[in-house]
Order: sequence, then C-alpha cells, then structure tokens
Amino acid sequence: MSYQENATDLGDGEVAALLFEYMPKIAAEHKTDSLLVLMANLGRQIVQADRCSLWLIDEEKNELWTKVAHGVDELRIPLSAGFVGYSLKTGQPVLVDDAYQDSRFDRRSDIKSGYHTTSVMTMPLESDDRVMGVFQAINKVGDNVFFSKKDLERLKLISVYSAKTIESAIRAEALERYAKQLEIKAEELKSAHMELIRILGEVSEFRSHEVGDHIHRVAEISLKLARYYGLSPEEQELIYYVAPLHDLGKVGIPDMILNKAGRLTPEEFSKMKSHSEIGRTLLRESKTDLLCMGADIAGAHHERWDGSGYPDGLKGEQIPLPARICAVADVLDALASPRCYKPAWSEDRVKEEMKNSGGTHFQPELIDILMEHWDEFYSCYKPGGMFIKKGLLPPVQ
Ligand SMILES: [Fe+2]
Ligand SMILES: [Fe+2]
Repeated sequence: MSYQENATDLGDGEVAALLFEYMPKIAAEHKTDSLLVLMANLGRQIVQADRCSLWLIDEEKNELWTKVAHGVDELRIPLSAGFVGYSLKTGQPVLVDDAYQDSRFDRRSDIKSGYHTTSVMTMPLESDDRVMGVFQAINKVGDNVFFSKKDLERLKLISVYSAKTIESAIRAEALERYAKQLEIKAEELKSAHMELIRILGEVSEFRSHEVGDHIHRVAEISLKLARYYGLSPEEQELIYYVAPLHDLGKVGIPDMILNKAGRLTPEEFSKMKSHSEIGRTLLRESKTDLLCMGADIAGAHHERWDGSGYPDGLKGEQIPLPARICAVADVLDALASPRCYKPAWSEDRVKEEMKNSGGTHFQPELIDILMEHWDEFYSCYKPGGMFIKKGLLPPVQ
C-alpha cells in the first residue's frame, strides 16, 4: 500500500499544523529532558507511531539515555544496543517492518517490558557534523502496519529540528552549571579573602597594642557612618572589612617607639607618623576594591579636614571618603575607651570633643550624622553595649 492510500497518515498540511502547534511549546522549554518528551510526542503524532523516543549520548557513562514522560525515571541502554546503536555507529537510518526478522534487533527490552516491537524507524540526530543521539519510532499505528519512506523523511525533518533545539538546551544547561560553579568558587574566594583581611586586622591590632576590640568597634562605627552618609551596600561592606586595617603600618614601627611609656621625641613621633605611609604602601599594590580602599584608609586616616593632618596635609574632599569616615570612628573609640595612658572619657566630654572637631579635624557632615544618631553610636560604650563580634559579616542593608 502506498503512503497516499493510507487514510490515517497525516497530510502535509496537518504535519505543518502540528509543527506550528508545538513550536511555541518547544521554544519556551529550556530543560533538555522536558524537550525530549515534547519532541518525542511531536514525532509520535507526525509519523503515527505507538512509541517515539530521542536517545542522547551520555559521554561520561558511555550510554544512551532518554526520558519518555514527565515524572518517569530516565531510561538507559548501552551505546551499541539494537537499531539505535546501529544508527549511532553508522550514522544511517533504519526502516524495518518486523524487528524480529532483523539481526540488529535487541530483544532484551521487549523481554524486560513485555512489549512487542514490530515496525521500527531510527534516525541519527546530527548537530555540527557529529551524531549526538538517535530518534526512534516503534510500531506504526493506524491503517498501515509498516512505516513508509515518507515517514522516514518526516522523521528526518523532526530529527534535524530536534538536534538543533536539544543541542542549544544542552549548551545552555552546561553554561548554567558552569556559572553556578563559578558563583560557588567566587564565594569561596571571597570568604578566604575576607578571612585573610580579618587576620591582617588582628595582626594590626596586636601590633598597635590596641585592646578591647578597638578595631571591631571602629569597623562597626565606620559601617554605620557609611550607611547614614548614603554609601551603597557594597561600599558599606568594603569599609566594614578594611577599617580594621587603618593602623596596619604599625607593623613597620620599631618596638621601642611603639612600647615607649613616656612622651615620644620629635624624631620618634615622626617615625610613628610614618605608619600611615607604610600601611598605604603595603596595601596599594592590590587590584581589589577591598585592599585599594584599605590603602586609602591606612594612608589617610590621620589627615584632617582643615589640611593640618599627615602624611600629605590633604584637605577636605581631597581626603578619600573612607579615610574621613574611619578617622571619626577611630578617634571616637580612642576617646570613649580606656587606654593604658588614660581612663575612658565621660560621655559628655567625648560628645563635646567630637562636636567641636567638626570642620577642623573631621568633615562637618560626618559629625552632624554622629550627633544626630549619638545614642546609637555611643551605645557600645554603655554597660551591656553590643557590637558586632569578630568574624561575623556586617548587617549591610
Ligand atoms: Fe593610625
Ligand atoms: Fe586605631
């Protein structure tokens, strides 16, 4: 019987209508296994087969796999199995009327499933000159019991379409996996980086003979100032992490100066002041935003708004903003905390001193912020006052 005489086969118009019906569904689907199910359903309707499946090569496991329905586990067969294996190996299609009369047929799947295979078509799925899998149709339904050459042509048409679509989905999924791995690696790198910065901060604190978590309070106060000043969450996070490095340069100051109980001579004081420059030099070679900001803070946290600070006598906005912020936090903490050479100042005295330093030592807007939110800034110096503990991420909002 010729194809035209088979009344249940689809006409070209019906095939085109089916393709148009499936195209938007296929275009909207990006998951490979869902595409396999969609394509198989399309193939089944176009060639009027009882079963259709797209087998794809799994190069890692050296197997072919397919998904025949949503929610059903994937099926797997060896690369060389049956007609599918033949098409894969030779790149040739298969068109047989009775599988059991063909030596290439692998009966094991029928035995396992209790299904009876009769007519079979397979078509290699080719993309970029390589065979990526095989489209298989089993058991013709309708008036005819055999697949025709026309069915094979139609299977070829769907195979070309399927191969391109599935290839794109596989690439997109691989890219997505790669992007996720990169994201995980970036997170790991970031935490390693932050951990190193934290350790550097601890070294700096130890070397500076600062006690009582000075650097952690400076970090928290700087973070709050940065937030009220309107810096972005990313900038707030950076400043929180690098503020503890403000005195890193003290690693280069001799013990006899750092440990001296009495007043420093002018030469010793000059040497002590060089910690700004040393800190900046240590950090400025870095290409990361984090350490660049660290270099700005280490190098300019003793500059003053009126230009009377050191090491460069920078004035006003010439001083990098993170250094202006950290300077307020550093001095506030120095005044409000007890040191070996002085007790903690009273709250009123600290507040008065900070207020009077706006426009001379510090940027006036930063002092305005400090005064406006004084209770919040000063809360960590009150009994039971809390501040962010070591190693915790800042509550950036
Ligand atoms: Fe300093
Ligand atoms: Fe400090």
